[in-house]
Amino acid sequence: MRKKISVIGTGNVGSALGQRLGQMGFADVILVDIIEGMPQGKAIDMMHSHPIVGSNAKIVGTNGYEETANSDLVIMVARSKPLGGAGGAQVSGGRNRLLLENMEMLKGITERAIKHSPDCIIIVVTNPVDAMARAVLHFSRFAKNCIMGLSGGLDTARYRAMIADEMNVSAQDIRACIIGAHGETMIPIPRMTTIGGVPITELLSADKVDAIVARARHGAGEVVKLLKTATPYYAPAMAIAEMAEAVILDKKRVMPVSAYLEGEFGASDVFIDVPAKIGASGIEQVMQFNLSPTESEAFKQSAQSIKDNVAMMNLG
Ligand code: 2OP
Repeated sequence: MRKKISVIGTGNVGSALGQRLGQMGFADVILVDIIEGMPQGKAIDMMHSHPIVGSNAKIVGTNGYEETANSDLVIMVARSKPLGGAGGAQVSGGRNRLLLENMEMLKGITERAIKHSPDCIIIVVTNPVDAMARAVLHFSRFAKNCIMGLSGGLDTARYRAMIADEMNVSAQDIRACIIGAHGETMIPIPRMTTIGGVPITELLSADKVDAIVARARHGAGEVVKLLKTATPYYAPAMAIAEMAEAVILDKKRVMPVSAYLEGEFGASDVFIDVPAKIGASGIEQVMQFNLSPTESEAFKQSAQSIKDNVAMMNLG
């Protein structure tokens, strides 16, 4: 029997993700949204593309959770309000803007989703993602390894694309390490960013590296500025699909992901981006390495900014 993935929220990111997962074909996909008819219509439209792309996966749209029963993976993408409107079209501050509203929404989603899929792995995408992953851990009472947040796969993809552009090389050959909170305080580690195994610090001047790092930190904002009433969705969807594939196919991929730390990198009781092994059990290992004093200080500050958000949620 094919595995089952439920995607909760079928706005831009959820829809692009549903389509990508359907095309990859390693699992059936349930699209859930509160807007009547929308997930159903999108699911049918996506299914009509499967003869063309050669996928046998089934996509079903629904407004309830019954169809999600026994999902292997639940991906929480929903946001409590659309981005548009005054002050909405900016990522800076925008990721934190709906902290309490999104937490309330995820409380309901978590309760309903795990009632039908008590043994699933959960990927949290809703922003501010690191704090939301902590809330979902609290609401679900799942083991820490079963919950992870999207961030590093997306942040490194942006960073890799920018380096590829600068160096005129294939983005595929660029491997990158980013730690810290998702957003402007993320911490790319240039000494661990390689092109075909060669650190970029050997190939680019320090100024160039700094400029790329700064651009990567504001990668989402660059897109939002142009889209105006939407956040990016193509790259996020691909990054989530990559994580989903690692879980469903037990690939043991190693990538930066928002994982719950209990002492690793000197941080505790916080979801934050670190390199980790992802497989059928979710986060299977956090890959620790020594941080320089500067990196360590930046990581500490980044973790504190996430903890400040978590404190505002009063999870108890
Ligand atoms: C992103 O980075 C907005 O967090 C979202 O695309």
